[in-house]
Amino acid sequence: MRLLITGNTGFIGPIMTRLAKSQGHEVVGLDVGYFSDCIPEGMSDIPPDRQIWRDIRDVTAGDLDGIDAIIHLAGLSNDPMGALNAQLTYDINLDSTVRLGELAKSAGIQRFVFASSCSIYGAAGDSDAALDETAPFNPVSAYAVSKVRSEEGLSALADERFSPVFMRNATAYGVSPRTRFDLVVNNLAGWAYTTGNIRVMSDGTPWRPLVHIEDISAAALAAAAAPRELVHNQAFNIGRNDANYQVRDIAEAVHAAFPSATLEITGETGGDTRSYKVNFSKALETLPGFEPKWTLEKGVDEIARFLRENGLRDRNFDDRLFIRLKQLQHGIDTGRLDGDLRVVRAA
Ligand SMILES: NC(=O)c1ccc[n+]([C@@H]2O[C@H](COP(=O)([O-])OP(=O)(O)OC[C@H]3O[C@@H](n4cnc5c(N)ncnc54)[C@H](O)[C@@H]3O)[C@@H](O)[C@H]2O)c1
Repeated sequence: MRLLITGNTGFIGPIMTRLAKSQGHEVVGLDVGYFSDCIPEGMSDIPPDRQIWRDIRDVTAGDLDGIDAIIHLAGLSNDPMGALNAQLTYDINLDSTVRLGELAKSAGIQRFVFASSCSIYGAAGDSDAALDETAPFNPVSAYAVSKVRSEEGLSALADERFSPVFMRNATAYGVSPRTRFDLVVNNLAGWAYTTGNIRVMSDGTPWRPLVHIEDISAAALAAAAAPRELVHNQAFNIGRNDANYQVRDIAEAVHAAFPSATLEITGETGGDTRSYKVNFSKALETLPGFEPKWTLEKGVDEIARFLRENGLRDRNFDDRLFIRLKQLQHGIDTGRLDGDLRVVRAA
């Protein structure tokens, strides 16, 4: 299958590209390249078979020529990003997603796999019940609202010629050529390694389901290839049922990998009110061949190894190389991007 993966030069995209190619797919990547220079020394990118450098707001029908299915990852990711400018999050994440869906449908591309997020469940309270795909939405950020509305906009296009599929991914962790440290597992491991102190900036009680980026990739590829009747216009929570963690449990798993670090739970109440437990059974039962391979312990070991091998102790892991918001701000400050995150000068 010739797959278009948008957002292929971000955190998840390279890992998805590698897995897609190993499954025999031809991959066309499309990305604006906000993070093209964010690869640490000694690591290399995982290139697709063909790269289109394009802002998702400017995609044309010609970009979709010969494509069999789309996995749409491109967007402003992670909740704090919406704080930069909520309208931009809506332009890039919502309007461009629905427009890409319309273009795909016109081009006769039947399968459109959309990277949604469990963030859409938002502040679900302390209920013990794990939320399945029928749970009400309670988005608490522009990012999460953009995901809810994108699902609605794509769903409105669904018919016998067009099958959108909504992948509601849990919070990601893992190592990629563009590893992020603005996600809870990676962030706590980064603190542990570079400062010897694991700081949880909350009381540690919020629930956060976790998933490795390779498992996110495997699920999306399974959804792209699945028989239509299994996935047509369906939402799937992506994660594993034994990976709903409270943040303090995540901190303890990180502590086990860095036993000499101290563990500090600050108890402060920050702006992030997300807390939800999620039921992942539907994807596990429905998506052909999808079986998560990663556990938190294995993932913490992977990130610990990455930190040690790259000697980040002397460098700052809290740097634009690894933090999306800082890289975008740097692009604006240096004149590479304008205030609407349009590329005005090549990197
Ligand atoms: N990482 C997570 O925890 C997580 C969880 C759930 C869902 N998701 C979703 O998965 C997708 C990929 O996540 P990620 O962690 O790899 O994000 P990322 O921020 O690392 O990568 C996103 C990519 O999209 C590109 N992009 C952004 N705006 C663009 C534009 N205007 N035009 C073209 N390309 C643009 C960026 O350049 C980047 O390469 C996102 O849609 C995200 O919302 C991520």
